[in-house]
Amino acid sequence: MYYIVQPKILYMGRGALQGLEKILRLMEPRRILIITGPTVTKLGIVDRALQAMGSYKHRVETFINPKPEGDVAIVEECARRVRERGYDLIIGIGGGSPLDVAKGAAVVAVHEEGMRPLLGRDRLRRKGIPTVLVPTTAGSGTEVTQAAVVHVPEEGCKKSIWDPRTMAEAAIVDPELTLHMPPGLTAETGLDALVHAVEGYAAHEANPISKMYTSEAMRLIVRYLVRAYRDGSDMEAREAMARAATLAAIGATNSGLGAIHALALGLDSWEGFNHCRSLAVLAPWVMRFNRVGNETLYADIARYLGERVEGLSVEEASLKASEAVLCILHEVGMSSCLKDYEIREEEVKPLAREAYRVGQRLLPMNIREVSEEDAIGIFQKAFGA
Ligand SMILES: [Fe+2]
Repeated sequence: MYYIVQPKILYMGRGALQGLEKILRLMEPRRILIITGPTVTKLGIVDRALQAMGSYKHRVETFINPKPEGDVAIVEECARRVRERGYDLIIGIGGGSPLDVAKGAAVVAVHEEGMRPLLGRDRLRRKGIPTVLVPTTAGSGTEVTQAAVVHVPEEGCKKSIWDPRTMAEAAIVDPELTLHMPPGLTAETGLDALVHAVEGYAAHEANPISKMYTSEAMRLIVRYLVRAYRDGSDMEAREAMARAATLAAIGATNSGLGAIHALALGLDSWEGFNHCRSLAVLAPWVMRFNRVGNETLYADIARYLGERVEGLSVEEASLKASEAVLCILHEVGMSSCLKDYEIREEEVKPLAREAYRVGQRLLPMNIREVSEEDAIGIFQKAFGA
């Protein structure tokens, strides 16, 4: 038995933003709160969304989160506004962070205890305010996931409300909204999507439908990420990457993640890192570790990532999966080496131990059991690479 959860409505492709008014007509909101960030507002994307709302734009108020990351305090502030002002629809517009704040605020608004007791898996007791999510990057895929991720300052890491009730009612994935991304951001967010696809494909709870999404995402990313990185105006590549990020996330949210995301949780908050850079440093080495005992699965991944595996043994083919990721990282100028982030050798073991501790809530999803010694080995490989 398996099942798939995803938004009821998905508008995809160039010009998808124009579908917003149609969606609003179906939902009939009386008061709408837009949650977004300063960059997206400056780029004029919020104005374009308002225009696409037709007469509904007169029912809108906007909250611009001044911080680059969403944290518990921001989500609770938005939730308070939603309660006080009676919004019956939240529209999130932006990269992963504003969308996660929108999802968090939508469910925290109907739970009087605040956000912290809701962090974890399946802790919600009721449905939140409906959300429409409009990503302006192609990576996190949060517009289609059943989790709202935020920074928890007192714990120095990110945590999530993981519950199907955080799922958006509708997502609008319009590649024209991603044209603004500079090469570095294109590379980082694209890598996040790639890791969702790889980990989702190999996760314990992967099923035939989730694999259909994750395998197609890998196929698209290997073909189009480098193109989008080299030429940000390449509309075909932008469109393929926007679709890939969404497909990867639908797959992963229905199958699970793995040790790359788990161990990255402890690295994210170190100076010089963010979510995507942490994934880059860990992905090739965790994939090499996970390959052992899962050769057939990794041979499949190698094939989806465009490696030529005809005539090779399953063992040989499986080795090519991590090579393909290293090759993509190299082409988009991202390092998979801890040394490049000014991590010193004596810091490697404590960093690995901390990542192992913080990663406990995601590590059980990994296809191969990871001990603390294994985590240290992975970090040492990432340092020596
Ligand atoms: Fe991610």
